[in-house]
Amino acid sequence: MTQLTPELDQAIQARIRYFRDLGVYDLYRRGQPVPDPADAELASVSVTNVEPEPPIPERKPIPPPLVLAASAESIPAADRASALQTIREDIGDCTRCPLAFQGRHTIVFGDGDPNARLMFIGEGPGADEDAQGLPFVGRAGQLLNNMIAAMSLKRSEVYIANIVKCRPPQNRVPEPEEANTCTQFLFRQIDIIRPQVIVALGATAATYLLGGKSALARLRGRLHEARGTKLIVTYHPAYLLRDPTQKKEAWKDLQLAMTELGLKPTPRPET
Ligand code: URA
Repeated sequence: MTQLTPELDQAIQARIRYFRDLGVYDLYRRGQPVPDPADAELASVSVTNVEPEPPIPERKPIPPPLVLAASAESIPAADRASALQTIREDIGDCTRCPLAFQGRHTIVFGDGDPNARLMFIGEGPGADEDAQGLPFVGRAGQLLNNMIAAMSLKRSEVYIANIVKCRPPQNRVPEPEEANTCTQFLFRQIDIIRPQVIVALGATAATYLLGGKSALARLRGRLHEARGTKLIVTYHPAYLLRDPTQKKEAWKDLQLAMTELGLKPTPRPET
């Protein structure tokens, strides 16, 4: 019998754990069948009228899970930090999806006030976030900090997280398999924090929070709902760095969030 190397064994265990997390328990090995002596006899018999084997169905992308409304029970404010910590412990040194094996250094869990009224959700960590273990700390993060300040809030007063907690290589968009594996933890974070408003930063966040794909332009400028919480969709700060002319459109989206939160924008300092 072939001996498994420890690496291969670990990769197989991770794969099995991944399928378990998706609720799949029965796995069948596809490969060369063990030769059966009866086959040799049958091989000499000519066979007619045999039904052809059905083709193996093509692998389809995993559809996003249903975005269910949060449960009616809310966790007392004083217990939310430790409830979030429990989720972090459940994640552990995660190997549930391929991103664990593609150069990730740190799992970027989320950052901010466990009792925040406003939550921002981006796509996934970049190089700076992967190095520091915190979301939105690179250039896009600087812009997000400015956006938060313009809303008359401090970064420490909001909560920031991403659709995936591990850096996709070359900052590519997370695959559905990766996002759908990871969002179970994000959804638990949302259910604990129970913000009044979530702002989805960019199309990836909007897709997985809303449970389906739509053009960003069609989603902006109005209220949606995700996990029983009001959701507003706006441009990703990295996109705004590439096209600053869209900042005024993003500001309109943030103003919508501010109206929901009863906030007034910070007046510009006199010059
Ligand atoms: N882009 C994101 O979507 N998230 C981060 O944390 C950083 C950059």
